[in-house]
Amino acid sequence: MKLSPAQLEQFDREGYLFFPGLFTPEETQNLNDAVPELYSRREDYNIREKGKEAVRTNFAAHLYSEPFAKLGRHPRMIEPVQELLGEELYMHQFKINGKMAFEGDVWQWHQDYGTWLNDDQMPTERAMNVAIFLDDVTEHNGPLMFIPGSHKKGVVDAKHDLTTTSYPLWTVDNDLIRQLVQRAGGKQGGIVSPKGPAGSMILFHSCLVHASGSNLSPHNRVSVYLSLCAVSNHIRRHKRPEYIAHRDFTPISCLPDDCLVNSYPVDLPWKDGVPASALQTSMDSIEPVRKAA
Ligand code: SIN
Ligand code: MN
Repeated sequence: MKLSPAQLEQFDREGYLFFPGLFTPEETQNLNDAVPELYSRREDYNIREKGKEAVRTNFAAHLYSEPFAKLGRHPRMIEPVQELLGEELYMHQFKINGKMAFEGDVWQWHQDYGTWLNDDQMPTERAMNVAIFLDDVTEHNGPLMFIPGSHKKGVVDAKHDLTTTSYPLWTVDNDLIRQLVQRAGGKQGGIVSPKGPAGSMILFHSCLVHASGSNLSPHNRVSVYLSLCAVSNHIRRHKRPEYIAHRDFTPISCLPDDCLVNSYPVDLPWKDGVPASALQTSMDSIEPVRKAA
């Protein structure tokens, strides 16, 4: 999938692109069907909402679930990001966020690159988020909120919030959010929420400031997030377990476009469990990986 000059210009200006209904209901069905079993697992890679059973985030399903392994190599996501970053990509993070009916908690205002820089020592912002809706997203079930153009500010001040939700995040304070929203148009477009049917996709810049409210509706808002990083920009520290910040910097090779509805062999290296090495963490910096000449 090639982006048009108008889309490239829009991405540069706004920091995101929205593709409503990019994947068909048939394509999202196998993904959706696999989620309840993945969420039922009592594993470290399932982070539950604070004090609740509901899963907030499942990490790394592309390493142990066949439909998600195929999604992680889908050309409709990988190719436009490769085009935008001008380089081969590796998977930095893969999550299936629940935002379950009645229970899904907020995501505070943040930039993803803030966390990747502060925790993982990712050298630059040359990484991208891709969101795929597995449920319809409406104004009622906690849609993402973006501040258009906020990526132009680069990395902004953030503090490590360890208490608001069950998941630590580097968050942006209210005064700065007020300024950024004002700069983006205040009540007229200073915050936008892409909404659409299951199968919709959003590409968004790693410095775009975003958040989402809680889900008080009776409708789940399950979404998959791929964080794709330029290979030369790989992380330089393993402070977080490997299921959160991946350590395999091998470039992603795409499967054919029909991979979600037809069968293709995929590797599932964590099918029989997460290796002990993936749980080891360190504050030491690692050497950049050099390609053989
Ligand atoms: C995120 O920002 O990583 C997740 C936000 C959401 O799922 O609403
Ligand atoms: Mn985020």
